[in-house]
Parts: sequence; structure tokens; C-alpha cells
Amino acid sequence: MAADEQYLMTTTKTSPIAAYEAEGVWVTDADGNRLLDFSSGVGVLNVGHCHPDVVAAVQEQTARLMHFAGTDFYYESQTVLGKRLGELTPGDFPKKVFFTNSGTESAEAALKLVRWQKQRPLVIGLLGAFHGRSMGSLAMTASKPVQRARFNAHTGGGTHIPPPYCYRCPYKLTYPSCDLYCAKILKELYFETAVPPSDVAAMIAEPVMGEGGYIVPPKGWHTTIKKILDEEDILFIDDEVQSGIGRTGKMFAIEHHGVVPDVVTTAKSLGGGLPIGAIIARKDLDYPTKGAHSNTFGGNLVSVAAAQAVLNVIEKEHLLDNARTQGAYLVQRLKELQRKYEVIGDVRGLGLMVATEFVEDPKSKAPAVALRDQILVEAYQRGLILLPCGKSTVRYIPPLIIQREEVDEGVDILDAAIGAALRAR
Ligand SMILES: Cc1ncc(COP(=O)(O)O)c(C=O)c1O
Repeated sequence: MAADEQYLMTTTKTSPIAAYEAEGVWVTDADGNRLLDFSSGVGVLNVGHCHPDVVAAVQEQTARLMHFAGTDFYYESQTVLGKRLGELTPGDFPKKVFFTNSGTESAEAALKLVRWQKQRPLVIGLLGAFHGRSMGSLAMTASKPVQRARFNAHTGGGTHIPPPYCYRCPYKLTYPSCDLYCAKILKELYFETAVPPSDVAAMIAEPVMGEGGYIVPPKGWHTTIKKILDEEDILFIDDEVQSGIGRTGKMFAIEHHGVVPDVVTTAKSLGGGLPIGAIIARKDLDYPTKGAHSNTFGGNLVSVAAAQAVLNVIEKEHLLDNARTQGAYLVQRLKELQRKYEVIGDVRGLGLMVATEFVEDPKSKAPAVALRDQILVEAYQRGLILLPCGKSTVRYIPPLIIQREEVDEGVDILDAAIGAALRAR
């Protein structure tokens, strides 16, 4: 850790855990401690650490051919994966895929594509959203001031509306009597004032807002928004970088919301630990000219082999079903904890994309930031790896292979961690 501080730039470190090896849902650190991973390496290891099928696919491909640049030459395996991703994403129409190396690069690729096609300058996003940290995606990221401070002058073209966050409704309304004002406001206020729809190429949104606090939009929000966008011929980009590849119990979380996006972005878990991302777009949105967009490593052969293995494992081991089953059980156990600790203001999520929001008390709902941070410390000291999100929220995103006993073990540690954090106040 001292060497990290000396030689590596400051990033987003959350806990002093130095991983040495891992298997399934368990990580062993440099001192030989075994920790239960409820973070999946920041949402990457949906099939678990070092899944033998992924390891075998990577080893086989690495020994044969690692790189030859699929953008300038041809890789058969990219076409097979591209076809498969097109079939896995919603929409019964032809699609095309562009491979990237990360989530932010997927967002960049999507944002460039919609701007090129529409020749309109603006993209609408949500306050609280996270789409990445490179300049283009950062224009749409709005989950914390620190992410944008000193960069604002260099990011452009994004305009944001308040999020569909029922626990803290920005309009202090209540669902469903609110009549989805948070969606309708796009047409009723934004399009009527500062945001001429004829200037808008697309809207980008996460189906469950991730870094912003695991916010699940209420039923009807997506269909209402999509109708408004369709009326103005505005494209819809579905950012599945965190929520996709089975995390919510569906292959892509947008399937919970009943709308069909024009472009889907993915990354994180697709490569089972190797860097790969992709955008899957309506075929007619493809560039008609060469050179408008490309890269060097996108869809690297080894990463593509890993991604195929990941998708095979999800099918073979019925991980969508397991995400739904264990996710429901996890929520049930967290709701039990909520009855014990009134500092748990809200329990929410879809599948195994679950979170609890910590508050000073359920009435004021004042965010309990210091308490949340202390719970993270108490948890890892007891052998549970957790991650924060939002202002005072903890997310629970174990690998989708997790079993009930491990859910119990994690929640029992969390129970002890909350108790200890409360005593330490
Ligand atoms: C929804 C979403 N989009 C994009 C990104 C950016 O991905 P990356 O960190 O791979 O650039 C993230 C990362 O957390 C994310 O959660």
C-alpha cells in the first residue's frame, strides 16, 4: 500500500484490501486472509473469480493468437460474439456491434454514434448518473461533484434532468400519485424551455442507476420517457455497463422496464475479468463511411474468448435464475436487518444488484455518510468486501454463482459490522 501511494496515481480506493488470489466468491489477500466478495471486483466477476471455463478459454486463445487488430483485419470470433450479443439484447431487428475495452469507451462509442447519425448537438442524461470518466462520457456523468470539478470547461453537450429516485423524490412527490412527473417533465418543461428537442440526438440512462446509489426507476418511467423521445425522433442509449450480463436476473436490466433501446452499452462483466466492452446498436445506425470511429484493442481475441466463456457459463449454470433466487433472499435478509436497525432507510434493487441506504433516522432521512463509511471498514475487518455508492448507500453485488449459505454468511457479517459501527459512534 505504501508503494501504491508512492508510484501510482490517486484514483478511487475504498478499502485497504490487497488481493493475491481468488476463486468463486472468495478472495485471499496478501496476508492469507479469506474474504467474501460482495463487490465482484466492482461489478466485473458475475461468473465468479477465475471460473475454470473462462481460465481455460483464455489459456487456449493466449497460446494461439493474442492480437492482430480486429478493427483493421478480421477475427472470426468477433463476428460470432457480435451476432450473439445482438441476439441477447432486446429488439427484434438487425443489430451491429462495436467492441471497446471499457465502460467509458463504450459510452464514448455510443455518444459519437448518435451524434454522427443525428447531427444534433445535445444528449440528455440524469442527475446522479455515471457513464465514465473520459471527456465524452464525463459530460454525461453527474453522480458526484468531484467527478466533474475542474473538468467542466472541457466536457460539453450534456444536459441533465432530475433522477427517478422515489426514496428521495426531487419533487417531494409520492409514487404513483406523482403520475411520473419525473418523466413527464422532460416534455412539459425541458422541451418547452432550454432544450429544443430538435437539438437532441439521444438520451442516455442506466436501467438501475449504479454509482449514483442503486436507484431503480419506478414502473412506467421508462415507457413514459421512451414515448416522449420517440415523438421527437430522439434515440435512447441504455447503459448496461454495471447492470448487464445477468446482474439483475435478466441478461440486460432494461428487460425489466419493457422498452427497446436503440443502442446498448456493455463492459465490466462481459469479459469475466478481462477488459472488453461493446455497443450493440440498431443496424441502420452503423457508420456508412470508414474511419469515423475505430480503435486498436477493441474486442481483443483473448477478451473475446473470455466473453464467450462467460456467456456460456451464465447459460450452463442458470445464473439468471440464481441471481433472481439469491437476490430475492438477499433482499429478504436485508429487510430483516432493516427492522433491527432503523439506520437502514431503504432496501432496494433488482436481482443481485441490491443496496441499502443508510440514514440518521427514518423520519429525517438525513444521509448517514460517516456511519456508512464505518460499516464498510467494520465489514472488511470481519472478512466481507463491500462497496459504497451514492451518498450513504452500500451495494451488495456478489458473483451470480453465490449460494444461500454465502448470502447468509455475508449478511451475518454485515449485521455485526452495523452493530460495531453504531457502537463506535
Ligand atoms: C453504468 C456505468 N457506465 C459506465 C461506467 C464506466 O466504466 P469503466 O470504469 O469501465 O470506464 C461505469 C463504471 O462503473 C458504470 O457503472
